[in-house]
Amino acid sequence: MKINKKVEEAINKQVNAEFYSAYLYLGMSASCTGMNLKGMANWLYVQAQEEMTHAMKFYRFVLERGGGSKFPAIEGVRADWKTPLEMFTAAYEHEQKVTAMINNIVDIALAERDHATASMLNWFVDEQVEEEANSSEIADKLKLINDSKEGLFMLDKDLSARVFVDSTQPAGGAQG
Ligand code: FEO
Repeated sequence: MKINKKVEEAINKQVNAEFYSAYLYLGMSASCTGMNLKGMANWLYVQAQEEMTHAMKFYRFVLERGGGSKFPAIEGVRADWKTPLEMFTAAYEHEQKVTAMINNIVDIALAERDHATASMLNWFVDEQVEEEANSSEIADKLKLINDSKEGLFMLDKDLSARVFVDSTQPAGGAQG
């Protein structure tokens, strides 16, 4: 069954939101590089890569269901971050907004009796639990660290270990 227009529109908006998320995290990553926090820069860079796979998962779904592509312009992001805490707090707030957007698409899909979309969205509902937990955990650690240079050094070192895995693919493989 061809995708419903309202659902298609909501998903196309979400493609935009996911690319905006990638932009937001890339900007934060660049700011961390500027602060010489290479581990945080790495974590945020990987996060940006993940966001692009989210956008592509939505994109592929719309096309598979016979929808077209009408994408609005991607908004610019701020570049004047002062501290990592400010960034990760904003990241957590942003993820909460993304969760609300995804829940809204679930509501639209169910109202339109589009169960295929509702089923696809389950993946994103689960993913958002992790997305919120990841950013809030780092923000909480930064609050604990407060002004400790050693603490910041250790956390930055931990975050350098993150590697990109495309979790939108069954076995974490390449884009299909
Ligand atoms: Fe794609 Fe961070 O949500």
